[in-house]
Amino acid sequence: MAETKDYELLGEDFPTYDYSFKVIVIGNSGVGKSSLSIRAARHTFAENYFATVGVEFFTMNIKYDNKVIKLQIWDTCGQEIYRSLISNFYRNSSLAIIVFSITDHASFDSIDQWLKELKSNSSPDIKIFLIGNKIDLESQRAVSYEQGQNLKNDYNLDYFVESSAKDGKNTEAIFVEAAKILYNDYIKYKIGNPLLGRSKPNTKLKKEETEEKVKKKCC
Ligand code: GTP
Ligand code: MG
Repeated sequence: MAETKDYELLGEDFPTYDYSFKVIVIGNSGVGKSSLSIRAARHTFAENYFATVGVEFFTMNIKYDNKVIKLQIWDTCGQEIYRSLISNFYRNSSLAIIVFSITDHASFDSIDQWLKELKSNSSPDIKIFLIGNKIDLESQRAVSYEQGQNLKNDYNLDYFVESSAKDGKNTEAIFVEAAKILYNDYIKYKIGNPLLGRSKPNTKLKKEETEEKVKKKCC
C-alpha cells in the first residue's frame, strides 16, 4: 500500500507563505551540497562538477499542518578560501545541514571543524542535521552508517540520514524534516511565549514578520 504523506511539495515560485526559515548547507568541497539542494528544490541532478563560488540560493515551499512553510536554502561553497565569507551567513540560519560524502573519510573527519565554525558563528539554538551523501556509491564506502549515527549521538545533533543526490534517495526527506522540525519547534515556543518577538530575540523568523503574525492571531 502506498504511504500517505503528511505534507505536500509546492513549487519553488509558490507566491505566499505562512512561515519562513533559513537553512544553511555546509561541508567540504565536492561532497554534494549543491547536488542535494538542486535535487530537492528542482528535482534534477548533474554529473558535472561546478564548484560553488560563494553562496547560491534555493527555495522550497512545503505545505504541512495546513500551513505553507518556505525554506530559504543557502548552499555554500566548501572551499577553504571562502570560509570567512560563509561565516556571515551562519548568524541568521535556523538550521544547518552538514554534509559529508560516505566515500570520502576526510570529509567525515572535517565535521568536527564545521561544528566548531557553527558554534562560534551561529545562534546557540540552531538545529543541526548531519547527512552522509553518495550512498549510490556503496562499493566506494569509506564511512559506515554506524559512524555517522554515533557522531550524531555524540554531538546530540537533531537528525542523521544517508542520501544520494544522484538517485534522489532521502533528498526530499531531509528538507521536509527540516521544515517540520523548525515549524513544530516554533509553534511550541510560541505557545509558551505570548509576547513572542518582543521579549526574546528571535532567530527563527524576522522580527517584523513575527509581530505581524502575533497581531494577526491575537487581535
Ligand atoms: P562545492 O560547491 O565545491 O563545495 O561542492 P559541493 O559540495 O556543492 O558538491 P557538488 O554538489 O557540486 O557535487 C560534487 C560532485 O559530486 C559532482 O560531480 C556531482 O555530480 C557529484 N555528486 C553529488 N552528489 C552525488 C551523489 O549522491 N552520488 C554520486 N554518485 N555523485 C554525486
Ligand atoms: Mg556546491
